[in-house]
Amino acid sequence: MRQSDWRGVLDVAGAAALEHLTSLPERPVLPAADHAAVRAALDRPPAADGIEPARVVGELARDLRPYLAAQAGGRYFGFVVGGLHPASFGAEILVSAWDQNAPMYAAAPGVAVVEELAAQWLVEVLGLPRRSSVGFVTGGQMASFTCLAAARHEVLRAVGWNVEADGLIGAPPVAVVVKTGAHATVLRALRFLGFGDRALLTIESDDQDRVRPDALDRALRTIDGPTIVAVECGNVNTGAFDDFAAVADLAEAHRAAGNPTWVHVDGAVMLLAAASPAMAGHVAGLDRLDSWSTDAHKLLNVAYDSGIAICRNAAAHRAAMSVHAAYLEQGAGARDPLDWVPEFSRRARGVSIYATLRSLGRTGLADLAERTTRLARRFAAALSDSGRAEIVNEVVSNQVLVRWLAPDGDHGRLADEVMAAVRAEGSAFFSGTTYRGERLMRVSVSDWATDDSDVDRAVESLLRHASAAITRP
Ligand SMILES: Cc1ncc(COP(=O)(O)O)c(C=O)c1O
Repeated sequence: MRQSDWRGVLDVAGAAALEHLTSLPERPVLPAADHAAVRAALDRPPAADGIEPARVVGELARDLRPYLAAQAGGRYFGFVVGGLHPASFGAEILVSAWDQNAPMYAAAPGVAVVEELAAQWLVEVLGLPRRSSVGFVTGGQMASFTCLAAARHEVLRAVGWNVEADGLIGAPPVAVVVKTGAHATVLRALRFLGFGDRALLTIESDDQDRVRPDALDRALRTIDGPTIVAVECGNVNTGAFDDFAAVADLAEAHRAAGNPTWVHVDGAVMLLAAASPAMAGHVAGLDRLDSWSTDAHKLLNVAYDSGIAICRNAAAHRAAMSVHAAYLEQGAGARDPLDWVPEFSRRARGVSIYATLRSLGRTGLADLAERTTRLARRFAAALSDSGRAEIVNEVVSNQVLVRWLAPDGDHGRLADEVMAAVRAEGSAFFSGTTYRGERLMRVSVSDWATDDSDVDRAVESLLRHASAAITRP
């Protein structure tokens, strides 16, 4: 067998990785970068005769170092970005070294069983129906895609239509209900499944972008036939939880009236609340719904890219995803990962989840949801106490919406100025949103590494730059 300088590559990569990880607390959260400079630093076309791997890796690490964002550094509060749990980091190194193609047990038995166990533990720790099936995919969007494909299969199967065999053309109509404020990736997943944006029934949500049960009730009364409803566990703007018990009651009544019904929950932001006894009130009724998607790379702090699709109806999940080919070796007596995901060849994504779950334990998982919520509230209290800002949402989880109070009334402009100044300083990173027509700053606390001092340091920076922006002539 051809051998390589594995040690040389690992030494170079390991040293660069260690330098990156240990410098996270102090390095600029967002590097100063202009596109031309980044290209100039990295534009090293492959030479005719190639280059030794260790040298390439060393140069890559050196050239890219100035342009890496400290996303896992505890003060990256933009979008909804998780950090890197050390157990996941270690597992990812192994997964890369093992280079297992993991669609089938027969091809990669070890990692297939690791994923089988991670799937089982997740269902248990989230308190979901015991026989639920799980797929390990690339992120929240593909998790929603997977679950909604299962939903499409099942509601059509119930009226005698096989969508995998016969497609959608000529199929009985499926009504798909979403709320205003549903995440763009749920709409995109639906689009991929043949349910275009304009064909959806969009119902009004409340002032926290929660589904309004009365609006859902009214919408369901207009539907006669197969029905898919999408709700949310953790809104991207407000962090809010839908009223799952009310949604489950309405879905049950709709089903009892003869309409095949499937309710999907986009839990990208906060499905992990289901692991926390302290947050049980927010997720009452969640386990009565039909499918749940979440991101492992957000609150679970698994390395990118990693999402989880869970379905109560395993047969529907499998029917929507599975594929057979004569040259494969399927059904060798254990779970074949390809039955539960859209990918064919695939990285053994569940290994990192297995390691992170074991390292955190039940208490650690609950703590992730509870601590990030507590830190979001710390942000909210400090900013509103300052008199410089108002908190727009009810802070029930790890997301905060902030209105910076501009003396001239142009609050949106002030929000953008404050965020830009903090980014330029490198002390923290925040991103904005337009919520109900208003430009606001968002705070997302999703990194296991964030602590009180990170929040306090970020608040100090925000308030200093807000003062400067307000007093600037
Ligand atoms: C509520 C919600 N759903 C879905 C997603 C999509 O997740 P991913 O980016 O992992 O595909 C996000 C991402 O931020 C989200 O906030």
